Amino acid sequence: MQVDSKKSQKTEAPSEIKKWSGRFNEPVADLVKRYTASVSFDKRLANYDIQGSLAHARMLGIQGIISMDDVADIENGLQQILQDIKDNKFQWSEELEDVHLNIEKQLTDKIGDAGKRLHTGRSRNDQVATDVRLWLRSVTDELVLRIRYLQSSILDLAEKHTDTAMPGFTHLQVAQPVTFGHHLLAYFEMLQRDLERLLDSRKRLNSLPLGAAALAGTSYPIDREMVAKELGFDRVCQNSLDAVSDRDFAIEFTSAASIIMMHLSRFSEELILWSSPRFGFIDISDGFCTGSSIMPQKKNPDVPELVRGKTGRVFGHLMGLLTLMKGQPLAYNKDNQEDKEPLFDTADTLLVTLEIYADMLRGITVNKQAMSDAALEGFATATDLADYLVKKGIAFRDAHEIVALVVREAVDNKLNLQDMKLHDLKKFSPQITEDVFNVLDLQGSLASRDHVGGTAPLQVQKAIIIAREKLVEEN
Ligand code: ARG
Repeated sequence: MQVDSKKSQKTEAPSEIKKWSGRFNEPVADLVKRYTASVSFDKRLANYDIQGSLAHARMLGIQGIISMDDVADIENGLQQILQDIKDNKFQWSEELEDVHLNIEKQLTDKIGDAGKRLHTGRSRNDQVATDVRLWLRSVTDELVLRIRYLQSSILDLAEKHTDTAMPGFTHLQVAQPVTFGHHLLAYFEMLQRDLERLLDSRKRLNSLPLGAAALAGTSYPIDREMVAKELGFDRVCQNSLDAVSDRDFAIEFTSAASIIMMHLSRFSEELILWSSPRFGFIDISDGFCTGSSIMPQKKNPDVPELVRGKTGRVFGHLMGLLTLMKGQPLAYNKDNQEDKEPLFDTADTLLVTLEIYADMLRGITVNKQAMSDAALEGFATATDLADYLVKKGIAFRDAHEIVALVVREAVDNKLNLQDMKLHDLKKFSPQITEDVFNVLDLQGSLASRDHVGGTAPLQVQKAIIIAREKLVEEN
């Protein structure tokens, strides 16, 4: 269908946009207006709404659905509105419900009838779905940069500690010695997967809903591919009902965000423990801590504690969004308006958390002595002693039992393994000789785990080189 663009310059409709109220006999109650309005929070989509409208208007013009004069007026008007919003001069009105109607009304006030033609072949349903996707795409791109920056902070700290010994834990009991660099690289790996998850969800996010109109598509001869290209979408959504109604991209994003927060929360838990005087492994710089108003000796690790706390809030948003969607029949329902606040808050929380985390890590100082003392105190090299006996021909299960007896003796005598005398050790196995002290020593233990993924300082150095290459890889 071709529309005569000259004819479309005339309009018989009333000159004022009355939202959708022509159909109604009585005005909407004030309380209902307030209850249903979203402009207070969705105005942050304004830039994306305008981008989408510009692309839509140009397409309408090129397709002959509206005149090119109208397109020029719409472009001018929207650019002015963009500037007004930037300058904080735009008057937002709750009467006009949401960001879309606010902008459309002001456009019409500025340019007249051309403003009323902008909405041809479009609905707020495909409009809002497009705006949210554009916004989320740009948030995702910013998050990718911030994850990269945090990963680089982790690598810088790990590089200084490739051979710093600390206790590795299982069940929060000292298990085996590890290097602090190795421990930190575990978080690099988690964040690498987090980043991949975000980039993967971006692929599905980057489809254009516009053209779906209210739910069934439109009878105008639109060119969706043109709009997709202009807005940087990889493709158009293939089903109009799906395009306007699903918010799985928001759920996917919040799920990826929840996993990132979960990782940072675990890291925070460790920072909190390590900075407590009982551990004394690290010191978090003063700028990231606060004091107590009553206990002068206190230095509280508020930042990691808040990261741990805010994780719950992001998980809550994930649950909120899943629940929001579970009962909705196709296609668009007003319920969907509730997607924005959890989504915005998830993004804001994650953006600032990643930023502060990277800076906090750069201010951490490490007490190497406390770390290695702790590693020795917990019989962390007991497995090394068992492995030593195996290499001398004893079956692993027997070796395990022998070492258990050695540890019991050490506990009874309040000794660490490396402080026991050779003749005492020999009582447990004649196979034990002077060279046993090489494996009871922390550095010997660390160096022996010399394979890909192991904690040996040499392996940690190699892992850092590989990790740095990943940082500069094209996303
Ligand atoms: N403010 C609405 C939202 O966020 C925009 C779409 C409204 N569409 C409608 N048919 N009421 O979802």
